[in-house]
Amino acid sequence: MARSPNATLVAAASVCWLSAAVAELPPVPVPAENPITEEKRVLGKILFWDEQLSSDNSVACGTCHLPASGGADPRSARHPGTDPGTIDDVRGSPGIAALDSHGRPTEHPLFGFDRQVTTRLSLSNFGSLWAGEAFWDGSAAGEFRDPLTGEVAIATGGALENQALTALSNEAEMAKYGRTWQELAAKLARATPLGVASDLPDDVAAALRDSRAYPELFADAFGDPAITPVRIAFAIASYERTLVPDQTAWDRYEAGDSGAMGEAELYGWQAMQDFQCDRCHEPPLFTNNDYFNIGLRRADYDPGRQGVTGDPEDAGEVRTPSLRNVGLRPRFMHTGEFQTLGAAIGFYRTGAVLAERDLIPGGGNYAFNMSTVTEGDIHAFLENALTDPRVRDERFPFDRPTLRTERDADDALAPVAPRDLRAAGEGASLRLSWQAPADNTGVVDYVLYRDGSVIALLTQTTFLDTDPPPSSSVTYTLLARDAAQNESPPARFTISRRQ
Ligand code: HEC
Ligand code: HEC
Repeated sequence: MARSPNATLVAAASVCWLSAAVAELPPVPVPAENPITEEKRVLGKILFWDEQLSSDNSVACGTCHLPASGGADPRSARHPGTDPGTIDDVRGSPGIAALDSHGRPTEHPLFGFDRQVTTRLSLSNFGSLWAGEAFWDGSAAGEFRDPLTGEVAIATGGALENQALTALSNEAEMAKYGRTWQELAAKLARATPLGVASDLPDDVAAALRDSRAYPELFADAFGDPAITPVRIAFAIASYERTLVPDQTAWDRYEAGDSGAMGEAELYGWQAMQDFQCDRCHEPPLFTNNDYFNIGLRRADYDPGRQGVTGDPEDAGEVRTPSLRNVGLRPRFMHTGEFQTLGAAIGFYRTGAVLAERDLIPGGGNYAFNMSTVTEGDIHAFLENALTDPRVRDERFPFDRPTLRTERDADDALAPVAPRDLRAAGEGASLRLSWQAPADNTGVVDYVLYRDGSVIALLTQTTFLDTDPPPSSSVTYTLLARDAAQNESPPARFTISRRQ
């Protein structure tokens, strides 16, 4: 929060931003408890892009955080807030459709059987690398505790680790109701890593040579094959910390290449300093990671930082988003209300002045009297000078697999049913096996029900049920699904057992 002029920022403002001293991005802070290793980074990349981390195999972390979209989500959907069609509506990201604790579709009061939508716009995961706290409101703080034991796993600097577990257990984003960490670990232990994705990047394909499975990847990264929530978070955060978008025209200019930025970009950058945009969008991160209410809408629609601190002074404040790669983003502000970068910049010109709006730290009031020419220059600067081409083109380290939801599927043509489903005793367990549908084209995964509950989502054609109920008869139902999650007719098998 920064309502009153801030002494440090005033002092900092006298530094010449064009000096080489501020040019380079500082090293990404890494918590002592989770040093980056290559094995952890690759495992984290696989986990980040694996849609099997969601309860319905359709949403990866990356689904809502695509590099080519500046780390945000090219899709967008309306969250109606409390009353649809009014100013409290938000443009968020579609997650999974609501699933009950048995993994079955369940009707959601707002979204029915459709995908649920997040209550804020997806933030670039790049911006949070240097922040002590993640999320628009900073609710993912630096102390990271093991959700199984409550023990502190990272004392400070673990916001990314915290954030990763939040998404995995969020019922709108990735999790069915009541999902347990044991369920997720068991699912990953039997999954083919990235089994529902395609076009794997080279480093990922190399790590997955010889059909390596998750337990082996966890052993490579952590010394033994145990899959735990802490290790999942450690690996994902390690990967995120290597995604540093530092090859922009602005970086080259600051490093001494005076031709890196064109005339409009240079004017735009000068204008942003004149208007003191850089007090909040402070180089070289292009954020000061502090919280402000710039007056987009009344704080009662979203308390923002106040929801974390409880302090009414913080009402409606959100963390300043980094402007690196902002030109790639499909929507803007925590509400997602602007669809173009021009409209987001234009907000500062027209600026509906709400009473609760914060001042510019050290700079006092907003007095943005922008000409359209200046607005255009700022636009040019943000779009051209702050975009890292590796991010835009999804080149290493920003490369990624193709997701299931991005692949073509013929909506009109659901897969046909799997064949020869059978179950046979194997000690106290039951071994299920089946054949892919005769017309195998387009089958991506199988949903296996036991007596009405989803017990597994599988890419292979066999499953060992280690926990069959003691009842005398058990019915298994199996559906094949294509990339778009169209379901085949069910195959059923009932096994009767002597008690
Ligand atoms: C359904 C879409 C969706 C999925 C899936 C998703 N996120 Fe996000 N992510 C969001 C939204 C929306 C926000 C902003 C939420 C907020 O701040 O209130 C966000 C925020 C973040 C941030 C904070 C960035 C910052 O600057 O504070 C990080 C990091 C992040 N997500 C990483 C992940 C990881 C890792 C996963 C997978 C474990 C994941 N996300 C899954 C939508 C998603
Ligand atoms: C007082 C601090 C502050 C100042 C000064 C400021 N901004 Fe911002 N800016 C923010 C915050 C906070 C947000 C997010 C607001 C929200 O979502 O409610 C933001 C959002 C943005 C966005 C949208 C980014 C995105 O990813 O959604 C752009 C573009 C932007 N600002 C450009 C500018 C320009 C250009 C100026 C100067 C004319 C400026 N800002 C001045 C704090 C500031």
